[in-house]
Amino acid sequence: MAIDTCIFDAYGTLFDVTAAARQVAEDPAFPALSDGWAKLAADWREKQLQYSWIRAITGEHTEFWQVTNDALDYALEASGLQGDVDLRDRLRKLYWELSAYPEVPDMLGALKDAELATGILSNGSPEMLQSAVQSAGVGRLLDHVLSVESVGVFKPATKVYDLVNRAFGCQAGNVLFVSSNGWDAAAATGYGFATVWVNRASVPMDRLPWTPQHVLEDLSGIPDLAASL
Ligand code: LAC
Repeated sequence: MAIDTCIFDAYGTLFDVTAAARQVAEDPAFPALSDGWAKLAADWREKQLQYSWIRAITGEHTEFWQVTNDALDYALEASGLQGDVDLRDRLRKLYWELSAYPEVPDMLGALKDAELATGILSNGSPEMLQSAVQSAGVGRLLDHVLSVESVGVFKPATKVYDLVNRAFGCQAGNVLFVSSNGWDAAAATGYGFATVWVNRASVPMDRLPWTPQHVLEDLSGIPDLAASL
């Protein structure tokens, strides 16, 4: 079935979630992170996702920014940095200005040149997403930026994927859903989207009831893949 709509996960897919810790590690004002930034970034991301799933399962929804802060506090403590208020503040601020991966503007531009509809579907709050899109300068290349806040539950709840049809009026089979989170791409396959898992780190595939239909190393091959389906 031809693809007419490309939908992207935000954090880790379009925007580099490790950028905040990496940037701070390069700042001589924060020597505490010069060696340990990768562990902090990994703990922060892992706990952020775990907390989002637990909140979705139990119905204890809160905004993604709260989950992101809770996860950061866990990660700081796991690295023995829980008392460093300046470091915490700096990391929190940088999370609102995450850089996009370098291939993102050209990739989105190629999709728009091919007259495909484009959008983000993310756990992020509308404010977080607006800030990230603005700092990456890609707003004009996106038709819709969809946040789970309008349904009050995190991915991979079905209600979240329903937002795509509500915004674009498209059929699930005409949507290419792209995520760097294997579980997100897998659940989107189960929902009925065509899917791509962007596996930048070459990690194993998640063992779930569904599997992503396509696997790419980065986003640069998305326009060609969308045209071929
Ligand atoms: C998002 C997270 C899951 O943007 O990466 O929804």
